[in-house]
Amino acid sequence: MCGVVGYVGRRPVLDILVKGLKRLEYRGYDSAGVAYFDSDKLKVEKSEGKLVNVEKLLAGIAPKGLQLGIGHTRWATHGKPTTQNAHPHRTGHVVLVHNGIIENYLEIKADLKKKGYEPASETDSELFGFLVLDKMKSGKKLVESVRESFKLLHGFCSVVVMSEQEPGKFVAVRNGTPLVAAVDPQGGAFLASDAQALLEYTKEMIFLEDGDVLVGDESGIHISTLASTKDAGRKAVTLNWSADKMDKQGFEHYMLKEIMEQPMTMVDTLNSLLDRARTDPFPLAEQPGVEVLRSAKEFILAACGTSWHASLLGKYWLERWGGVPANIEYSSELRYRDPVLRAGAVLIGTSQSGETADTLAIIKEMRKRGVPTVSITNVRGSTISRESNYGFFTSAGPEFSVAATKSFLAQALVFFLWAGHLGLRRSKDIASQVQVIFDQLIKLPHLLESMLKPDGVMVRACEEAAKKFQNAKGFFFIGRGYSFPIALEGALKLKEVAYVHSEGYAAGELKHGPIAMIDKEMVTIVLVPQDSLYEKTVSNLQELKARGSKIIGIGNAGDEKVKKDCDVWIPIPVKSADKDFDESLYPFLLVPAVQLFSYYMAKLKGTDVDQPRNLAKSVTVE
Ligand code: AGP
Repeated sequence: MCGVVGYVGRRPVLDILVKGLKRLEYRGYDSAGVAYFDSDKLKVEKSEGKLVNVEKLLAGIAPKGLQLGIGHTRWATHGKPTTQNAHPHRTGHVVLVHNGIIENYLEIKADLKKKGYEPASETDSELFGFLVLDKMKSGKKLVESVRESFKLLHGFCSVVVMSEQEPGKFVAVRNGTPLVAAVDPQGGAFLASDAQALLEYTKEMIFLEDGDVLVGDESGIHISTLASTKDAGRKAVTLNWSADKMDKQGFEHYMLKEIMEQPMTMVDTLNSLLDRARTDPFPLAEQPGVEVLRSAKEFILAACGTSWHASLLGKYWLERWGGVPANIEYSSELRYRDPVLRAGAVLIGTSQSGETADTLAIIKEMRKRGVPTVSITNVRGSTISRESNYGFFTSAGPEFSVAATKSFLAQALVFFLWAGHLGLRRSKDIASQVQVIFDQLIKLPHLLESMLKPDGVMVRACEEAAKKFQNAKGFFFIGRGYSFPIALEGALKLKEVAYVHSEGYAAGELKHGPIAMIDKEMVTIVLVPQDSLYEKTVSNLQELKARGSKIIGIGNAGDEKVKKDCDVWIPIPVKSADKDFDESLYPFLLVPAVQLFSYYMAKLKGTDVDQPRNLAKSVTVE
């Protein structure tokens, strides 16, 4: 959840730390700080609130000598978001940043107090500095002290430590929360909790593994493990993300930019997963894992939040086209259950960040139990992609807005491609249906592009809907069939970025209770494309309207029948007369509408769109 950056070398360290932390601020942002060497003396600057407060403290400072420092943005777990609790924490000559949780911190604190140490903050993190200090007092070197101290910790975390007694290096350990390192081509070393912080310097990244101990100094990177001081033999991987994808490029917010990038996200993901040189539809490029998908007798789909919604779509498609049972599970629940596992079951863990603690835990657990595990992530080298037996990647590029948008579309697309691929092998009849769908699928990026024109009718309608209902008491998003996961996703988006109460429901479920809440101050967003459940959804719309609900309808362009019953109508670019458009593709066109509506609501409410309160992009704690 927290962001970590480190640098040693000849470039101006404070620039690198601040720039890196800016790239990571989307992860956690309740306080920030840096520690750096100035002529072999350690200095710390930190502040509650956003990074900009630290930037002010650093104005005009240009450290002398070897450029060496570490930085941190915090997502509070132990102790309030105050300056005192902000990282780095200094304890005598030792300074550290930490990401994750030390579960046995009360025990450690009690032991340290017995030894006469008095922590100044409420955090679990600070205690690690005392452990290292204590070991160094007994004559041990920094690396050895960090290694030994880390072994005393329970729980998942990573730390980066420096000491004034041994200037010239930082020492880091990873266990469960991500760390990525890179050699500075100009001499020295970079370190970060997320590759995005380093992309403008190099694309060659080394993803640390659990138990790795890293020393960064002027000569580069040295990685051993907690168990052994021998070289761990880690190799660099090349990331294909470009640094220019990381700027807002004229958009007011990353969220808007990332919504608008979805046509390209689709193209990139199609290109990366399909072998377009082949003529059959859904020609999945041969890669490890495809065979496992083909032979699966059952899928267990585990994820959290938006990735769970993409997995729910996956369930619908895998069952319809693949003909394979697919059970959808919240990772946080499944990991503590005792599920009945049938022979031939395959676990699919989906995670944009590739670092979500609950999804990672269930992948590890299933592997232990002999179930093949496949992941869908957006980050090459992420922990989940490495811990699963087979990693598939979305090609959404870096996503900075905490609210996931383009990554959702890309995850959904991966499921769609798999389902289509499996469908081809089922029967002649299904294979010919799948062929038709494939032809429509590859045209979708164009449709999306036409729909997402900034001054186009769909975008304007989303903005108008937000303006009209910005003060509504609450929102329901409803849909049936393939529209149901989009209803859930719409409600989540609106809560996340606009802080407005909203709920997603299967349209047929509303009358089983929630309809009691409907009155004229409530708004229902009805996802009503002309699919096989259209008439039923229209009836649900009428039931709500009759009870006073305001209605925002999202459906086919030219559907005058439903449009006249809506207070605002948001058209998607499939004409109502186009009866051949396959209903399984509607989610790709509906989701940008609910994303944009939420975005405009957030703007009107004046929230921090890209970094909503209390959230973090990468949820590495349970
Ligand atoms: C999405 O907008 C949210 N920020 C959140 O629900 C997210 O999808 C969830 O935390 C899972 O994250 P992951 O995809 O990185 O595993």
